[in-house]
Amino acid sequence: MIEFDLKEKVFHLKNNEISYVIGILENGHLGHFYFGKKLSGPLMSNMFRIDQNKGLTSNVFENNPSFSLNNERLEYPCYGSTDFREPAFDFEDKDGSHIYNFKYSDYEILSGKPSIDLPSSYGLESEASTLRIKLKDKFGLEITLSYTIFESLNIIARHTQVRNTGNEVHYIDRLMSLSMDLKDSNWEMMQFSGDWIRERHQYVTPLRPGIQSVYSHRGASSANHHPSLILKRLGANETQGEAIGMTLMYSGNHLIQCEVDSNSITRVMGGISPSYFKWKLQPNEMFQSPEMLLSYSGKGLEQLSHTFHDFVRNHIISKKWHNTTRPIVLNNWEATYFDFTEDKIVELAKQGSELGIEMFVLDDGWFGNRNSDQTGLGDWFVNRDKLPNGIEGLSKRVHDLGMQFGLWIEPEMINKGTLLYENHQDWLIGHPDRAISHGRNQYVLDYSNQEVVDHILNQLINVLDNANVDYIKWDMNKNITEAYSKTLARDQQGELFHRYILGVYYLYEKLIDRYPNILIESCASGGGRFDLAMMYYAPQAWTSDNTDAVERLKIQHTTSLFFPLITMASHISDVPNHQVGRMTSLKMRGDVANFGTFGYELDLTKLQDAEKVEIKEQVKTFKSLRELIHHGEFYRLISPFENDYNNTAWQVVSKDGNQSFVTWYQVLSRPNEPIKYLKLRGLEVDALYQITGFDEAISGSYLMYQGLLIEPSFNGVEIKEYALGDFQSRTFVIKKVNYNL
Ligand code: GLA
Repeated sequence: MIEFDLKEKVFHLKNNEISYVIGILENGHLGHFYFGKKLSGPLMSNMFRIDQNKGLTSNVFENNPSFSLNNERLEYPCYGSTDFREPAFDFEDKDGSHIYNFKYSDYEILSGKPSIDLPSSYGLESEASTLRIKLKDKFGLEITLSYTIFESLNIIARHTQVRNTGNEVHYIDRLMSLSMDLKDSNWEMMQFSGDWIRERHQYVTPLRPGIQSVYSHRGASSANHHPSLILKRLGANETQGEAIGMTLMYSGNHLIQCEVDSNSITRVMGGISPSYFKWKLQPNEMFQSPEMLLSYSGKGLEQLSHTFHDFVRNHIISKKWHNTTRPIVLNNWEATYFDFTEDKIVELAKQGSELGIEMFVLDDGWFGNRNSDQTGLGDWFVNRDKLPNGIEGLSKRVHDLGMQFGLWIEPEMINKGTLLYENHQDWLIGHPDRAISHGRNQYVLDYSNQEVVDHILNQLINVLDNANVDYIKWDMNKNITEAYSKTLARDQQGELFHRYILGVYYLYEKLIDRYPNILIESCASGGGRFDLAMMYYAPQAWTSDNTDAVERLKIQHTTSLFFPLITMASHISDVPNHQVGRMTSLKMRGDVANFGTFGYELDLTKLQDAEKVEIKEQVKTFKSLRELIHHGEFYRLISPFENDYNNTAWQVVSKDGNQSFVTWYQVLSRPNEPIKYLKLRGLEVDALYQITGFDEAISGSYLMYQGLLIEPSFNGVEIKEYALGDFQSRTFVIKKVNYNL
């Protein structure tokens, strides 16, 4: 999959569908030659670049006005020569100089994918090949660019490492995971931005000259800008056109940017945000950037998503969870908030088990003096007033009902009024002589300090060793504001954000080592840290605190661009909805939650009998579709961001093509709507399909080209909930009939 043409000095990474080409330029720097559909045949350097004398440029070689880095398409550009665009890396030496000159040194090709010291994707020798290109500067630094290409998935995993082989200290001010200069700027940039309870909405803008970016300086990958980006050709859509997708496997501060220069070249780069970052690299030390995953699709966004879904399911999520059924959850947060007793919890769980729900999750409020969000965080011992028999006693009672038991924690935080605060005020992130801002009355613990992480770990071990816990919901509800660590030296304060997230990863690793059977769901005020690095440890994440069925359409739709449905925790909650006050039917709420891990977050004891019957049916249906939904191919048929925001439709098709599940949603009822036909995808043209409740089987060609008629009565079936009234949804369970036309 990886070739090097020594004469032409061209590296070519390829699988059956894509190519990535890098060249060595005449000054020893790397040129970015190509990324896109697979190329075959000999690739010569002069097929990708020519010398250009553009007049008033700065030039690398004396007496040669035709070689300026500013006119080249570069692979990993530096500051301090003839390129005036943003560099991919920036170092500082003992003299304060930022001028470095890294030249190609050597390369190696490895089978498989070596792991790095950060959460990263994995691939066997039979699945992937890795190219490492080493660049050297004469004053003792080495950069290694690493590229892993996967054989059957259009993914290239990139990261960068820098090693100090000299005798002097250097500072890293920036070390991007990926950089590449695309040959034109006819792209639209799709970004996924939002806020708490409005995570990952889509924004599409054509590229323009200058820099456009997404970033986070919050210490978390954030609900505000997801650490990913898609570039798509103008007019590309779900099924057509070129698209490049990238997502950073990192949970801390990030930056992904596109810079269009005066030659209409687009420089794309991404990695840890250089703002507030400075890393001291001592002699013999090494620093690794997180991994950026890159994909190319010649067939629109759908192919991009299918690639990422398979990749996340098979190369990111721990193997342990590949074939483990994800339980249907009942969570007590919106049912009780902080106000519960052991008996109330058991009563809820009992109702849940009678309805077929498989796991009870005890949310916030079980520890320390936590009766409101004023205090308690940091004191990870059980609140005996609420739970006299401890987590041990409660988990036993829940297990006796035939349910699994899960527990909420928020280990990165501290409140005033706790024992932890009394003893360790110095463990907060913040300067001792400056004010420290709170958020939800809480402060962030300094996870760059090993002592802090170990203390929290030991408290959690005390709880978890003594109880039967099957699942953890790991929350994080405050971003880092006044970033200062009392234990880091003056010239290492710029390391705090990265060291913080390394502390978080360390705690994840310790918990997973000790409790390998506990399924962890990550959460950060909902979807505020919904990234691939979290996914590496916690194979599912709470998608958003917003459980309103209409709002969830947009959030889940965009999340599905990179993440498979099995990673998205989705619950049915009460109405009026606690976030937006909307009244939607139980049916629509269930039909939206189906496209995720599925669960409930409401007080089942307060429901009418008819609602309980409906929930029992929902649970039964989800169980019958779970394998299909979690492991099938997902199709976004209608986008909630188009079409006047009124309709959305989703479909899943099993990998073997025998089964499909489709749901159509309508937000508002409107008079005189045209007849709607919903065109399905992913079926076989010549096969016949039986739709549950329909008399006759229907051909794949009809379902895909003409479309399923969304009508009150079709093929003899009356659909009772027909679009009179707002917030409608229809589901179709489809099975291939075993013969072709
Ligand atoms: C965050 C989470 C919620 C819930 C609360 C508890 O907001 O996103 O799901 O767990 O905290 O305090």
